[in-house]
Amino acid sequence: MKRRNFIKNTAITTIGIATTRNLLSCSEIEEKKKSAITDKEKASLPLVIATWNVPNATAKAWEVLQANGSALDAVEQGCMVEEADITNSSVGKGGMPDRDGRITLDACIMNKDGDCGSVVYLQNITHAVSVARKVMEHTPHVMLAGKGAEEFAVANGFEKEDLQTDNTRKALESWLIKSQYEPVINIENHDTIGMLAIDTNGDISGACTTSGLAFKMAGRVGDSPIIGSGLFVDNEVGACVATGLGEEVVKTVGSFLVVELMRQGKLPQEACEEAIHRIVSKPNSDYKNFQVGYIAVNKSGVVGSYSIHDGFSMTRYQVNKNENVQSDYYLKQSS
Ligand code: GLY
Repeated sequence: MKRRNFIKNTAITTIGIATTRNLLSCSEIEEKKKSAITDKEKASLPLVIATWNVPNATAKAWEVLQANGSALDAVEQGCMVEEADITNSSVGKGGMPDRDGRITLDACIMNKDGDCGSVVYLQNITHAVSVARKVMEHTPHVMLAGKGAEEFAVANGFEKEDLQTDNTRKALESWLIKSQYEPVINIENHDTIGMLAIDTNGDISGACTTSGLAFKMAGRVGDSPIIGSGLFVDNEVGACVATGLGEEVVKTVGSFLVVELMRQGKLPQEACEEAIHRIVSKPNSDYKNFQVGYIAVNKSGVVGSYSIHDGFSMTRYQVNKNENVQSDYYLKQSS
């Protein structure tokens, strides 16, 4: 073969391989885009999703969205339903106390503009999520803690209440008899109520609220009031909220991670799975003994959820349907 033909043939072959390779990766990308578009077509706005089985909370948020209310109002009012429900022992009034009998609440909220507010170690006020919103809207700060948060709440018209119930008193008594400090989250039962909504304008907001780990050490704060860990909203990309053992979420800045993974092109389901993998694949991770779950939504209204253990679920209100959806989980794939 003459040198000129060899170069020509080699060049053609090389182009062929390169083209095939490019075509392969392009087709993979196209395949992904197609499934994202199919999901997008399926997604209908507005919508609201929440951690765990909380149909009353999502119904309240949906009512706000149906009246053309903002996603911010929807998530606040949705979370308030659970905070006021004394049968829900993981948020607001009736939330489980710390080991010294104090009920201390953590909450945060984030709007479409990336503004956020949060309260930590708040006592004697049921609606921590609303105090967090006031911090966002009426102070130059992001986070208020403890006595300062309580005084700010009272100055803004919130009433002080005893958050204890017969149930929490009895639970503390029986825990004190055992007197064992086991900071391991109950795998089956829920803790944080996290809520994400997209309103009729297509704008996203999120909120979360919790009384934290039952019988925690005095002063302990989890992920829920920490922007980026318990909650993150980026109105151009999507939003994520976490539930479960807050320490593990904080160590991986979980909600921010999920949103950043969506920004890089992952679907919400893929992003939640990747964030859970980060936790379980840490050296010496004790993940068999704790639960973490994420729910996420992207700008198109496609949702995802994933947890370490079975039993986690998401409530979704969309297209006039309020349903509880069991989440897929890590231990199923790994067993
Ligand atoms: N995820 C709630 C907490 O750990 O406090």
